[in-house]
Amino acid sequence: MQQIIRHRLVSKERLFLKVNGFVLIAAFLLSGCAGSGPVKNSKSTYRNGMVVTASPFASKVGLDILKKGGNAVDAAVAIQFALAVVYPNAGNIGGGGFMVYRAAAGETNTLDFREKAGAAASRDMYLDQSGAPIVDKSLYGPLASGIPGSVAGMVAAHQKYGKLPWAKLVEPAILLARKGFPLSAQQANELNGLAAQLQQLNPDGTALLKTGKWAPQDLLIQEELAGTLEQIRDHGKAGFYEGKVADQLIAEMKRGGGILTKSDLQQYEAVWRKAITGAYKQYQIITMPPPSSGGIALIQLLKSVEPYPLKRWGYQQDSTVQLMVEAERRVYADRATHLGDPDFYQVPTQGLMADQYVKDRMSSFNWSKASLSSAVKAGEPKGKEHEETTHFSIVDQAGNAVSVTTTLNGSYGAVVLVKGAGFLLNNEMDDFSVKPGAPNMYGLIGGEANAIAPGKRMLSSMTPCILEKDGKLFMVVGTPGGSTIITSVFQTILNVVEFDQNMQQAVSNKRFHHQWLPDLVYAEKGAIDSLTRLKLESKGYKIEPRGPMGRVDAILKTKDGSYQGGADPRGDDQWLGW
Ligand code: GLY
Repeated sequence: MQQIIRHRLVSKERLFLKVNGFVLIAAFLLSGCAGSGPVKNSKSTYRNGMVVTASPFASKVGLDILKKGGNAVDAAVAIQFALAVVYPNAGNIGGGGFMVYRAAAGETNTLDFREKAGAAASRDMYLDQSGAPIVDKSLYGPLASGIPGSVAGMVAAHQKYGKLPWAKLVEPAILLARKGFPLSAQQANELNGLAAQLQQLNPDGTALLKTGKWAPQDLLIQEELAGTLEQIRDHGKAGFYEGKVADQLIAEMKRGGGILTKSDLQQYEAVWRKAITGAYKQYQIITMPPPSSGGIALIQLLKSVEPYPLKRWGYQQDSTVQLMVEAERRVYADRATHLGDPDFYQVPTQGLMADQYVKDRMSSFNWSKASLSSAVKAGEPKGKEHEETTHFSIVDQAGNAVSVTTTLNGSYGAVVLVKGAGFLLNNEMDDFSVKPGAPNMYGLIGGEANAIAPGKRMLSSMTPCILEKDGKLFMVVGTPGGSTIITSVFQTILNVVEFDQNMQQAVSNKRFHHQWLPDLVYAEKGAIDSLTRLKLESKGYKIEPRGPMGRVDAILKTKDGSYQGGADPRGDDQWLGW
């Protein structure tokens, strides 16, 4: 089997940062010390740590923090704020996310800083008089926004595990916002494509709009965002959820018909939750519990395929793809019915992941013929109890690992920047079942478990994940991609543990995806070779081509103890090690 690795030429970029009066020339000699595509070989020499993010600037910020003695959580905080500046389509302070943490000694924890519905939210708030969903209402403008969780999340993470002073972690983002950073070609294109909508939803203008068109290497300067980050630097959580920034956010709500109030902001808390864990062969999966559906679904997927000889069948072979697709069909059917905010709905977590339950679910498929999604309903586990997000992975010098996925939901969220504060609002309310049974922006169907309620967290697919092998750190992985997040993480893990790919190959290789409904196998070009395609189609599988799926950023700890990065060539992603 031929591995496909896209080669990317990365230009040398220089960023001039002014830190505490000193001019710091951060030279990004990208081709020399890091890769945004292929690794040179599988024997890297990065033993002290590594960061992988969606932006070379954010990766550099994270690596600098590690080199200054910060730990993985310090680097995560600095990266989260930097991404809000340099990757505005998903990096955020106006959104939310999840963090999975594994200390070098093995202790694990997860942090839920997912957005919540405001107190004035109601089950039918996005339906018209006939009870039909008004699609744009949960997607654009302040009404689409849940209470942001990212700033509370970073404060909580720093208070529990951080080492360096808070201000030092926010400072690089302030400098990037104030001094500007050069747009990549992809970013310039995206902003040009979004210009009309930005103009319409932000009639007074925003830093993301330019007279004329953005070109690659244009500096994006975000003065208002720098001011907001200074409030956060100086006042921590109160710098965002109270005072000037909170006033600006509430004024934006009033201008655009949103419902969030000061009391919603003041009451928001990030929550530490026990990690979801599960075994796959000699690997232990440590991942996010609900309100993410990703952790449970990932473990269900791995358990579904565990009894089968994937390694012997081989990568991309028809049996391998068929088995994975049939597992995905069943797991996404379960997701639609059983997953929601555990503070509001009794999610049957252990039942869904039970060995016998997963085995029973897989017993209904037939090798000679595709199952029909219309015939696959959610199971009955015991104990009834847009596609833009971004992921980063970090390991520090001591071996502590952090896996963070964070989001505004759609690209540029609700496409509204808070006037005067310069940050984008999320459109995470669309991740609720706006009408149980109706699909959201990713075509995902949800049930009662994920109906809108005041103060409730909307279900997510984000699957930040850490793997142990024989009790030791093995991999840090995650991705954006809406409904494709779970299957992209699943495939990346199998690429390494079953098909012996190195981290970069596992990330770069093409992906496919099934999500129960619609009953289609979505495939990137090259994900399913022509012979496999013919065999699958003859059994009734419908294969639908689609564009890039996910942007996986991952770190592998190799046998010799060094770190190997996988930065997704579908974006500007970059790993940096030292
Ligand atoms: N907004 C994408 C997710 O949370 O899954």
